[in-house]
Amino acid sequence: MSKKIFIKTYGCQMNEYDSNRIFDSVKKIGFIKTDDQKNADCYVLNTCHIRDKAKEKVYHEVGRVKKLYRDKDKPLMIVAGCVAQAENQEMLKREPYIDFVVGPQSYHKITQIIKNNSKKNLNIEQTDFDTIEKFRYFDKIKNNDNKISSFLTIQEGCDKFCHFCVVPYTRGPEYSRPFSKIIKEAEELVKNGSREITLLGQNVNAYSYINNSKNFKLSDLILELEKFSELERIRYTTSHPRDMSDDLIDCYSKSKKLMPFVHLPIQSGSNKVLKLMNRKHTVEEYLNIYDKLKKINNSIEFSSDFIVAYPGESEHDFEETISLVKKIKFINSFSFIFSPRPGTRAAELNLIDNEISKERLVKIQKYLFSHQLAMNKSFINQSIDVLVENKMHDQDKLFGRNKYLNSVIFKGDKKEIGKVIEVKIENCNQNSLFGKIDNNNMKAA
Ligand code: SAM
Ligand code: SF4
Ligand code: F3S
Repeated sequence: MSKKIFIKTYGCQMNEYDSNRIFDSVKKIGFIKTDDQKNADCYVLNTCHIRDKAKEKVYHEVGRVKKLYRDKDKPLMIVAGCVAQAENQEMLKREPYIDFVVGPQSYHKITQIIKNNSKKNLNIEQTDFDTIEKFRYFDKIKNNDNKISSFLTIQEGCDKFCHFCVVPYTRGPEYSRPFSKIIKEAEELVKNGSREITLLGQNVNAYSYINNSKNFKLSDLILELEKFSELERIRYTTSHPRDMSDDLIDCYSKSKKLMPFVHLPIQSGSNKVLKLMNRKHTVEEYLNIYDKLKKINNSIEFSSDFIVAYPGESEHDFEETISLVKKIKFINSFSFIFSPRPGTRAAELNLIDNEISKERLVKIQKYLFSHQLAMNKSFINQSIDVLVENKMHDQDKLFGRNKYLNSVIFKGDKKEIGKVIEVKIENCNQNSLFGKIDNNNMKAA
């Protein structure tokens, strides 16, 4: 009988991609995926370390699993992801219920470890930065993802060392996968039914792979994917402003499939704070990228990430961020209060008063959310292109996304899944658009 694996994923899209690949690899040794977390032979927590009490949350979660299996056979308990990398041996010492701690660049070892160890209480830790070997291993295993919209990791790690961020420590140095392997995996995804591919990397636009003295960049990948006739949409995330090169910007005029929506984190609208953060770019450089893109296509919209109350951020600095938010009118963004991360340069800095930090978060979100809602309202009574992704659970409604990644919900038959169709928007809230299929404007898939 097949063994069952349950994988719980936290954090960014890269973790989501990794969880799928972990499943692709254990499938080869007879595992099937289960959604029933109470009846798994192997329980994987794929963790994120970016903010808050990430570490404590993982121990809490393991405690919960322990309770779930109190009267049954213990599952093989694996902690993967960025907390696993950061905490490594410590986790095994503190929580013996965990059998195996594995960092993001050692996932190629999971299958072997499971195969060689059917008994529990393994006490194994693998946290080497073995990125090349990992991708060599995964390149030999088919990507079975069969979603309409798929993720494809092209680049891992980060060399930028923003003072607030754990990623360079948890994901290791920048590494770009071979161009041909990425294209092969994209082909597999399209054959499986993907109509949208989002290229992923912690610094996706730093992608650089040299072969026969040609330097392949993110722009080369986008233009190669453009040739896939069945692929409708191309996206990429997350970018760093410093790597927003002209060849990538040019893609917005050359490519018809690259969506006009740019997620470009800035973190702060104050040059002083950007310097304190070690971001290595200025507000003016960011605005220059914005202007160049808007000149190519005025309908390009932006989203961003913001950190408020970074140590040293004055009221004036914060107001500069608010001015930037008002100027660019980001349509969808993430905003967080600075959270000190163990081991980073900013970890020991003096924190801004908690009440002031919260007030700043509320204020920035007020503007961000009002722009988001205004943008959503602007679609009402318009017919927009929607890539239909799936049928909604227990409903006769379909779920899809427009070019700006807004969720669109409408009545329809599942035969529309995988097609780009026109939906007339009738209503909206901050997060979603609601409408009906515009039969006068049906588009071919
Ligand atoms: N590489 C991307 C970039 O440079 O913009 C960001 C990747 S990071 C996984 C995603 C976001 O988490 C960051 O843009 C930042 O806003 C947020 N973040 C990272 N460290 C943080 C911290 N210590 N406190 C609060 N937010 C943080
Ligand atoms: Fe973190 Fe900065 Fe690297 Fe982004 S560029 S992953 S924020 S260190
Ligand atoms: Fe979290 Fe690691 Fe992604 S810290 S955001 S899972 S790179």
